[in-house]
Amino acid sequence: MVNYKDLGLVNTREMFAKAVDGGYAIPAFNFNNMEQLQAIIKACAETKSPVILQVSSGARKYANQTLLRYMAEGAVEYAKELGWEHPQICLHLDHGDTFELCKSCVDFGFSSVMIDGSSLPYEENIALTRKVVEYAHQFDVTVEAELGVLAGVEDDVVAEESHYTKPEEVIDFATRTGCDSLAISIGTSHGAYKFKPEQCTRDPQTGKLVPPPLAFDVLEEIEKKLPGFPIVLHGSSSVPQEYVDIINSHGGNLPDAVGIPEDQLRKAAKSAVCKINIDSDSRLAFTAAVRKVFVEKPGEFDPRKYCGPARDEMVRLYKHKIIEVLGSDGKAE
Ligand code: G3H
Ligand code: 13P
Ligand code: ZN
Repeated sequence: MVNYKDLGLVNTREMFAKAVDGGYAIPAFNFNNMEQLQAIIKACAETKSPVILQVSSGARKYANQTLLRYMAEGAVEYAKELGWEHPQICLHLDHGDTFELCKSCVDFGFSSVMIDGSSLPYEENIALTRKVVEYAHQFDVTVEAELGVLAGVEDDVVAEESHYTKPEEVIDFATRTGCDSLAISIGTSHGAYKFKPEQCTRDPQTGKLVPPPLAFDVLEEIEKKLPGFPIVLHGSSSVPQEYVDIINSHGGNLPDAVGIPEDQLRKAAKSAVCKINIDSDSRLAFTAAVRKVFVEKPGEFDPRKYCGPARDEMVRLYKHKIIEVLGSDGKAE
């Protein structure tokens, strides 16, 4: 049993309370490798932003849970080396789907876990979430739960309204589970194809796809039911067109990729939404930078020569998100 406090990590309780009060959101960035972690820590140290480092099941399989945990522990020391006196770094399990997985992360030094029972029937979601909360809280590990199903482009249904979180359920859910934060569904989804072209309109000037707005009315209803309760938005990458263009003009093929416009995320960050999950944008930044090196310098075969520029691009991306979108800069001096 490793306690995250001994690793210099923090849970989400205090960061969320401050974020809700301050009208900003904490970045939750996924990491799978050293370059992503270095870029996240550098960006957060330079902007003094609290941060949630997210590890998905896929990341655990790819990079090994033991290595990832030691990397997060190392990240605290790296942050201090970079001159960040009091780093506020949370190590979080993203989309945990079983009690056993959440328990293993709690026992292993994670400071926060997500139990995603959103695909289960309501009562089963409550029972599973409650079980994880009871275990995690013994060690002061915070728990994120999910209610409502995120839309996906693979879904056959175009009108996704029925998947939105039902505001009338949130009080009962939060009270009976005891969760510390709640991921909701208001129109975001995972990946680089968040909307089908037929769900979007076309900007007459650029010809680019313009997605439909998020369901802010649902968010407002939820806020009214649970005043001050920390709300989480998954699937919040913006899919920057500049990266998509670089990828497509350097041998890639990402037709009609579309994300959540940043003005929508800015608006969400000022509300009860206090954690915004971003993974795909980092993947796009990495891929765009690597593809550019491969096309411009075909003789290059030293991974540092293409992972280095990829890391630099991710630092730029993370800082942009922190300063221009989430407003979390300067919140962890
Ligand atoms: O929620 C999804 C995250 O982007 C993690 O993705 O399962 O491919 O690691 P992954
Ligand atoms: P994106 O795919 O929009 O980056 O969402 C990531 C996420 O929600 C991780 O849980
Ligand atoms: Zn997610």
